[in-house]
Amino acid sequence: MKQYKRYLITTALPYANGPVHIGHLAGVYIPADIYTRYLRAKGVDVVWVCGSDEHGVPITIKARKENTTPQAIVDKYHAIIKKSFEDFGISFDIYSRTTSKVHYQTASDFFLKLYKKGVFVEKTTQQYYDEEVGQFLADRYITGTCPHCGNENAYGDQCEKCGTSLNATDLINPKSTISGSKPVLRDTKHWFLPLDKFQPDLEHWILDEHKEWKSNVYGQCKSWLDQGLQPRAVSRDLNWGIPVPLENAEGKVLYVWFDAPIGYISATKEFTPDWEKYWKDSDTRLIHFIGKDNIVFHCIIFPAMLKADGSYILPDNVPANEFLNLEGDKISTSRNWAVWLHEYLEEFPGKQDVLRYVLTANMPETKDNDFTWKDFQTRNNSELVAILGNFVNRAMVLTHKYFEGKVPELREMTDFDKEVLNEIPRIKSAVEQNLETFKFREALKEAMNLARLGNKYLADTEPWKVYKENPDRVSTILNIAMQITANLGVIADPFLPFTAEKIRQMLNFDGKEWSLGGKSDLLSANHVLGKVSLLFDKIEDDAIDVQLQKLQSTKAANEASVSKAVPQKPSINYDQFSEMDIRVGTILEAERVPKTQKLLKLKVDTGIDVRTLVSGIAEYFSPEDAIGKQVAILVNLEPRKIRGIESHGMILMAENSDGHLQFVVPADKVDNGSTIK
Ligand code: 2FM
Ligand code: ZN
Repeated sequence: MKQYKRYLITTALPYANGPVHIGHLAGVYIPADIYTRYLRAKGVDVVWVCGSDEHGVPITIKARKENTTPQAIVDKYHAIIKKSFEDFGISFDIYSRTTSKVHYQTASDFFLKLYKKGVFVEKTTQQYYDEEVGQFLADRYITGTCPHCGNENAYGDQCEKCGTSLNATDLINPKSTISGSKPVLRDTKHWFLPLDKFQPDLEHWILDEHKEWKSNVYGQCKSWLDQGLQPRAVSRDLNWGIPVPLENAEGKVLYVWFDAPIGYISATKEFTPDWEKYWKDSDTRLIHFIGKDNIVFHCIIFPAMLKADGSYILPDNVPANEFLNLEGDKISTSRNWAVWLHEYLEEFPGKQDVLRYVLTANMPETKDNDFTWKDFQTRNNSELVAILGNFVNRAMVLTHKYFEGKVPELREMTDFDKEVLNEIPRIKSAVEQNLETFKFREALKEAMNLARLGNKYLADTEPWKVYKENPDRVSTILNIAMQITANLGVIADPFLPFTAEKIRQMLNFDGKEWSLGGKSDLLSANHVLGKVSLLFDKIEDDAIDVQLQKLQSTKAANEASVSKAVPQKPSINYDQFSEMDIRVGTILEAERVPKTQKLLKLKVDTGIDVRTLVSGIAEYFSPEDAIGKQVAILVNLEPRKIRGIESHGMILMAENSDGHLQFVVPADKVDNGSTIK
């Protein structure tokens, strides 16, 4: 491989529309953190940039749902995400955001340069437009009937029932989710990146020059290229995003997938005035850590953008991971099927490294993997506690006991001692080789082999049995055990930074340069050790049961809401709502409507008048039950005749999923005629 002078590491910018979960950590941020910590320990010049991805339609939808602004949404989640990453020791050099000033400028300039070079193709296409609110509609803002399965609530980009991806124009009876009105097709102009023109270059660059990429990444790129690349729009009609920096482009913003990867450049600019060195010098090795759903953007589209500009380097590798599932099901923010990082830390305070360990050991490197709480417990109890924690604790306690907390001398060594010491550099280089090729699970396994080696060494030599007769022998054994421990303080650091730090503190040893690893003289004789503390403790069944119970409740709630709740109706605006005059009234008289099962004739004091209403509640309420009840009434519903009786208004009822009706009543008694709004 080429010798590089410096590294630039990027990790996918998470969308700021929700907190981060274990899937994010396992797929992207832990591998990048291990890798970057390793590079730093080797003394490599490395910069790692990341930030929140704060544009795009889902953020505007979330804001509309929560009745707030997109800015408020991204402010909230940016802070939560940033804190979770810090708490887990994810050691970015900078964590920025795509609403930063520098980013607006950088992305606008990037677009303009390509525009001026004549890279884009301008095309007018037809897009749905909501005439009531006066805006073009992103596909997610349109619902209608799926032409494939008849689902009436399919979205303009996908039917979630049958999974088919759709164009908004495929929907039968399309409706705007903003106003509920029927959208119309209107012409709109956009700028397209002609990926087809980059096809030959990209083919050569990926398929010939990057055969070493992970097979999942290479395979996905090949399949995109084999299908033939098409021009892609880099702008959208939306009122949230970076405005297209051209005249006559009102209401148009850069497509979120155009601006987000430029966020890597903006963040580097924010981090160092020397940013160009990292982006434009071919001696820099650029590596993008991402999840598999981002492969096309990082291996094809962003490189095409960079090529189009002409002054940037391209990524040398994109070690994308597959997905992590949770207890057999796909992690889902909307179904709340996730282990949220901030919640984990509330429930397992101080146990960052336990999660880091389990997620690395199960990293979905070559296929989707499953996180289960049982496995989490087992790995903690039988690996972290029983192997790593146990070895370090025994080595420390014995040294304190027999040598008053000082590293004893290395005296005469047996062949077995020498073999054990020779294992240390072997393990170090195995860790290294795996890290260099992005095999993090294997690398972690090797690092743990160091603790296994230590445990076995103590078990084989039994210093506690030998000490009485041969303290010199024990001096050598514990010197070796201490050297293994110090190596753990170095080699475990990229994986388990909190634990490695504790080990170094216990040893009173502050070296963590990678070059120290593999050596058998890290601690000299008589070096004074620090206090012993436990690295890990056992996780009991109770704690795991709580987590399983929590997931069980989520599942039950999801099932209930999926199967029972009637789907939401199309949106109405406030004016439409305020046209309804809803009042509190009291039922004064009630009698059955003859020859009917369901109807009661009611006389109601509405505060405005006393009027007659017919209501279909007789199956659930006898006349006696109804009399005296305060109820909610839609008083301005136009009168209609039911069984010959003129009914003036409608009593509002709550209908349970089994069809059972209940009155909607004020929590405390109020005056008749009180408005409900
Ligand atoms: O998939 C995602 O979560 C995107 N927000 C990733 C963006 S990566 C980059 F290009 F910024
Ligand atoms: Zn469908």
